[in-house]
Amino acid sequence: MHPFKLLVLTGIVPVLAVKDYLFRKCDQNPFCHRNRHYAVEAQRPDFVTPYTLANLDTADPAHITGTLVKSVGDQTVDLSLLIEIKTDNTVHFVVDEPNRKLDNPALQASRYSPAGDILDHSQVSKLKPTKNVKVSKKDGAVTISFGDGNEVEITLSPFKARLLHKGTEQVALNNRQLLNFEQLRKKDSNDGWNSWELQDNAWSDSFDGKTDEKSRGPEAVALDIDFSNYKHVFGIPEHADSLSLKETNSESGHSEPYRLFNVDIFEYETQSPMPMYGSIPFMMASKTDSATGVFWLNGADTYVDVSKSSQGVGSHWISEAGKLDFYLFVDDKPAHVLEAYGKLTGMAALPQAFAIGYHQCRWNYNSQSDVLEVNANFDEASLPYDVIWLDVEYTDAKKYFTWNKDQFPEPVEMLGELDETKRKLVTIIDPHIKAEKSYFVYDDLVNKNFAVQDRANKPYEGHCWPGNSVWVDSMNPAASEYWASLYAFGNDLGGDALNLHIWNDMNEPSVFSGPETTAPKYLLHHGGWEHRDLHNVYGQTLTNRTFDGMLSRYNGEQRPFILTRSYYAGSQRIAAMWTGDNQADWAYLKEATPMILTSGIAGMPFSGADVGGFFNNPDSELLTRWYQAGAFYPFFRGHAHIDSARREPYLAEEPYKSAISNALHLRYQLLPQFYSAFYEASQTLAPVMRPLFFEFPEEEAVYAIDDEFLIGDSLLAKPVVDRGAKSIDVVLPGGGVYYDYFTGKAHRANKITVPTELESIPLFVRGGKIITRRDRHRRSAELMANDPYTLVVAVDDSGRASGKLYTDDGISYGYEKGHYALAEFVYESGQLKNKVTHADKAFNDLNIERIIVYGAQASTAHAGKTKFDLEQTDAGFIVRNPRFKIAENWTLTFK
Ligand code: NOJ
Repeated sequence: MHPFKLLVLTGIVPVLAVKDYLFRKCDQNPFCHRNRHYAVEAQRPDFVTPYTLANLDTADPAHITGTLVKSVGDQTVDLSLLIEIKTDNTVHFVVDEPNRKLDNPALQASRYSPAGDILDHSQVSKLKPTKNVKVSKKDGAVTISFGDGNEVEITLSPFKARLLHKGTEQVALNNRQLLNFEQLRKKDSNDGWNSWELQDNAWSDSFDGKTDEKSRGPEAVALDIDFSNYKHVFGIPEHADSLSLKETNSESGHSEPYRLFNVDIFEYETQSPMPMYGSIPFMMASKTDSATGVFWLNGADTYVDVSKSSQGVGSHWISEAGKLDFYLFVDDKPAHVLEAYGKLTGMAALPQAFAIGYHQCRWNYNSQSDVLEVNANFDEASLPYDVIWLDVEYTDAKKYFTWNKDQFPEPVEMLGELDETKRKLVTIIDPHIKAEKSYFVYDDLVNKNFAVQDRANKPYEGHCWPGNSVWVDSMNPAASEYWASLYAFGNDLGGDALNLHIWNDMNEPSVFSGPETTAPKYLLHHGGWEHRDLHNVYGQTLTNRTFDGMLSRYNGEQRPFILTRSYYAGSQRIAAMWTGDNQADWAYLKEATPMILTSGIAGMPFSGADVGGFFNNPDSELLTRWYQAGAFYPFFRGHAHIDSARREPYLAEEPYKSAISNALHLRYQLLPQFYSAFYEASQTLAPVMRPLFFEFPEEEAVYAIDDEFLIGDSLLAKPVVDRGAKSIDVVLPGGGVYYDYFTGKAHRANKITVPTELESIPLFVRGGKIITRRDRHRRSAELMANDPYTLVVAVDDSGRASGKLYTDDGISYGYEKGHYALAEFVYESGQLKNKVTHADKAFNDLNIERIIVYGAQASTAHAGKTKFDLEQTDAGFIVRNPRFKIAENWTLTFK
């Protein structure tokens, strides 16, 4: 039984601590152990990498092929190498093992690549370099030149490669000679091994009393990818760690490598490289004049060692199976590197407007009347919220796609009532399917052969919430279609309601009885793949189908909202994520910020953390500070464990209640700003909640800062995350002026100290930016759709400011056909202009009710013949009720 469940049943209030003995450390995982040992051997002075490159075909310089020959003893193995110039700043490497033949015909002989399942093929098919790609050869080396000053230089023997940008080395491959491609070998034979290579447990090993049979034997792939002259690397979520990654295998950082292996980690620790629910094998390095990154396209269990020296940051990637397949990106700025990654894996989906409002969840709202009461209580307390959530207890005995009809007799009626104030319902759907005859989903999975199989080719049964369960095989196209069909319009799940959305939880998959709380790696999927090959992408492949199902439920007319716990590269196209089961403890409030920042840097901008903490009960101060921080999380949801006390915001006592209410109203006031930032993420993948280094890459001092951030490019926030904090230091990067969001007070120092009473939220508008707000209080985001805007013009010291506002219907895909408005406001030379980039007539009535100017002086203003008297303030002035349209060009001149 999962320890989590046991605690629930026994009612024990635990002292929380991760059960790290449940998870394999590197030396307990044979493939990682072998490769860390390889790294030690590679340091011997006489060590020479056994790989050389031959038969190079450079006829198409953007698509070079060759044979990578591995020589061990008197054996040689021919691997295939492909080097592709994908775009002007992206190069792709693939090493594969051709012609593999296995004794067992039921197993897939090829090595798995997640590319088909996870890349954004609508974009990838169009990618090509726009500049001439050239190849030159000299002294045993081949150089490919591409883009603006990019080069890949390949040394043939021994095989190494370098990526250069404008003449400077950015990345070195196999420079430390850690390339290791474990070719297919015969069991019980020493052929093809280096004498010092460890082959213990290569075919079978046991951990925590569970045996893993590796039918294909050892087949790890590993490589050193070093970032020359960089000091900071970021990304590779999910870990509860700092934004700037630490050294591993080191006394000053972590001793263990960062592990990418999607697991249901119970009571995770902060500041740890341990694996968590999701994995995105994308790492970015940034320095003041360039940025680079690697996307390691592999779906198997993976460890990454990070080392730092005066030469730069080293990374050693080790995966248990699959191809050695990765992309390198290089450019001047981190934003361009992330955009290049987005061109492969997809830009972020634009959420519906409601999805960026506040979500109210707990495990569980117990009945239909409970749901409607909570809904009414929000109104009673004049608190905005958009979505109420149902956790597993709403189902009939954890049989997803059914309802507990005693507690929820009329779900469609309930959905209808929520819709009256444009509120939504999210129901949880987990991928474990109760093994119970006559439960229709189970019957279908078993009868149609749609379940993941054990070694005897029977549906694999493991334990999860419902007891014995089976899992849908997302590698089987028919099973995937079936999964999507379960969300159909008109069925029991939500009838004809359109305000129903979905939460896919436990999709790592979580298997309480399985090794490391997940599915055994030897399980079999359609196509003869082992679960080992694709473990990290399983959750995403299934959530992809949830997305398809919801899209067709809405007949393509609404953007689905899905929250997923397990994710991989590309999940940004379909879902939001959250950081799982945190704790009601200040350390977890603090940790949430770097985790969400990392998620954004790894291309998953729609992310959040359980506000208030999942386990245990926050005191009022912690809960208040968490709402103040959560108001900036791109995904903003309060959630709590089944054993925790009720803590809906309206239950708080004063002064906490008012402080929480202010935080909620602040979020709703800023929705236009958030929505515009999400629009940017949908175009370029730029994070919504943005680390300082991303906006100010030229400032080395901000690279390690991960307790403050920007929303989009214009608002700077630093949540209070310490009990009893009376003041907080805030770094104001860029050297320009910042204005206090609430008072307009100008700050010009690089570092300031601001007081932090309970109600204060340190928030600043960056000088030079124009932000857009909606100030009227409403009950939900959708009810704000026609509200007028307030512009805040934060003039910089050269007298300029600019900012963009994006809006659309907030529901449909109409924006893809041009039904949106994109305005750019520019303030310069005493004039404020709206330069409309695009305006669909549907947005003609949206206007501006107030313009607040900070950092400039004027007493009157006119637009054509219309004159405006200005209200003077300490920080500048205000234009009241100008009624300018956001969808029309206009100029306002100040005097
Ligand atoms: C685990 C999830 O992380 C948590 O948020 C949820 O409440 C429980 N599963 C129960 O469904």
